[in-house]
Amino acid sequence: MDSNKTVLISGGAGYIGSHTAVELINAGYDVVIIDNLSNSDAAAVEGVEKITGRKIPFEIVDTCDPVALKGVFEKYEFETVIHFAAYKAVGESMDKPLMYYQNNLVSFMNIVEMMMQFNRRNILFSSSATVYGEAETLPVTESTPRQPATSPYGNTKQIAEDILRDCCRACAGLHGIALRYFNPIGAHPSALIGELPRGVPNNLVPFVTQTAAGIRECLSVFGDDYDTPDGTCLRDYIDVVDLAKAHVAAVNRMTDDKMKEKYEIFNVGTGNPVSVLELITTFERVNDLKLPYKITPRRPGDVPAVWADTTLANEELGWKAERSLDDTLRSAWKWEKHVRGL
Ligand code: UD1
Repeated sequence: MDSNKTVLISGGAGYIGSHTAVELINAGYDVVIIDNLSNSDAAAVEGVEKITGRKIPFEIVDTCDPVALKGVFEKYEFETVIHFAAYKAVGESMDKPLMYYQNNLVSFMNIVEMMMQFNRRNILFSSSATVYGEAETLPVTESTPRQPATSPYGNTKQIAEDILRDCCRACAGLHGIALRYFNPIGAHPSALIGELPRGVPNNLVPFVTQTAAGIRECLSVFGDDYDTPDGTCLRDYIDVVDLAKAHVAAVNRMTDDKMKEKYEIFNVGTGNPVSVLELITTFERVNDLKLPYKITPRRPGDVPAVWADTTLANEELGWKAERSLDDTLRSAWKWEKHVRGL
């Protein structure tokens, strides 16, 4: 394994991590996956192996455990880590803030510390558009000011971004990129990997696909009285394979020594706002089915609209979202059917 061509993926058995592993391998990288399987399944690693035809080094390791993590750094040579491993449920973070701060920040600080101790070079961090909150101007660019976080989950993303910025500034050998994801949806076209929410899904598309599969009786549309064209919220839904390819572009930038600053931030979205009702009708049309849904009150904490200005990622990473919403929503349904054996 060439260390400059090897990437450690924490949380690599998760939704975005597994898709990113596939795209990195397709682009000629070797990957090492670590995951504590707290919200994922080892079957995802097998899915990556089936898609790529490669055996993936995989260790069940909790990034909050510094001894176990050190063992990974001793065992494998890699110059780059992509840190996905984190909790991500906004509501749960309101109920269990300390659990979120401990898990998301301790794991990240352990990664940064090991990178510095072992003189490894590049950290790619999974951030979120949640850092923009209710932005004053739309679409948001990377320099749109972050708003105070409205959940401990969102706060962990802001704090981790700041930790990465400060450590890259202080440590000569360290380089960092934060990717701010908008709303990742869909699944790999093979339907061998996809999103596996535990319990009742919080996010729109898993709720949509589970309703279509008959697991949920009725989809709730949270509010139709927003100041938007059809009254429902606007989001920037990014296909998970496109998102995975953005990681490859960012890793290329780091390993090819093309960064302009030691710490950089990129929005990863499509640049197209889509309403909740548009998403539902598109899902129905492309999959030729009817979804039972009803309008319910707004969900506390939701922002009316947020979508990305993707100019920076387009120009600097040479990346742009390519898959259509139609294809993405087809893939989401194909995956749900695969999981349910339909
Ligand atoms: C949410 C989080 C965000 C996090 C992201 C992770 C909030 C406020 N934001 O984004 O911080 O990074 O998930 O994936 O929770 N909707 C319905 N019915 C449903 C579910 C959702 O109408 O059953 C609507 C929501 O009101 C929203 C849109 O669908 O307008 C998207 O919701 P969701 O998928 O939960 O994503 P975000 O809230 O944008």
